Amino acid sequence: MKKIIIANWKMNPGKLPEAKKIIEGTKKIAKKTVADVVVCPPFTYIGLLSGSKKPFLGAQNVSFEKEGAFTGEVSAAQLYSLGVQYVIVGHSERRAMGETSEHVAKKACAALQNRISPIICIGEKERSQNAEHWQEIKWQLVDSLQGVNKTNIKKCVIAYEPVWAIGKKSVGPMAPADVAESAIFIKKVLAEMFDPKIAEDVRIVYGGSVDGKSSKDIMRAGAISGFLVGRASLKPKEFEEIVGSISSK
Ligand code: PGA
Repeated sequence: MKKIIIANWKMNPGKLPEAKKIIEGTKKIAKKTVADVVVCPPFTYIGLLSGSKKPFLGAQNVSFEKEGAFTGEVSAAQLYSLGVQYVIVGHSERRAMGETSEHVAKKACAALQNRISPIICIGEKERSQNAEHWQEIKWQLVDSLQGVNKTNIKKCVIAYEPVWAIGKKSVGPMAPADVAESAIFIKKVLAEMFDPKIAEDVRIVYGGSVDGKSSKDIMRAGAISGFLVGRASLKPKEFEEIVGSISSK
């Protein structure tokens, strides 16, 4: 299965020249790898990568509405017309702002209807001693995939991102063996929802404090097809190392 590395710039960088610089660096990296590289900049910088394939262009959000009086929203058709090929839905930072799994499912379906691959984020808030996090992961996945069928699930990417491992204030990346265990669990749920053969074809990526070093160890542990990278995706040197750890697998 083709590996994939997704850069989630979040609300960065602050100025257009900086964005151009990071894009130049990322283009060089994307040209050197056989893996898919996807850059998800803020909407303001999307025009800089319109229609690009190396890296692919992604967005960080999409409306589930088609068109009309929805101030501040951007539709899947509008994104597609700008050459967007992927969109992140259900990131924990958006779920914290009120996005529910029901919204996520509707957004994923809107994206698929417009030939955009949704990157569907799930992940537990914390690990509980009595293993409640497995139920949390399972139901987030099941609820976020309502309306997705056996054909278009293969176009989706599942991003497993434990919330406690994301961002500057986190404890750092999850242990490689635990990432593999979670990815296998997600595959099992997908196999129950669709069928085992189809589940094998869905790319599952890990996100949460990924850097050049942790990416190698996590790839080595197996079961995942790549990464969703936040902070490190803004530093081309660090990002290159992450991409390198995937290409060498
Ligand atoms: P991080 O963010 O790599 O900065 O932890 C990952 C994400 O939120 O997608």
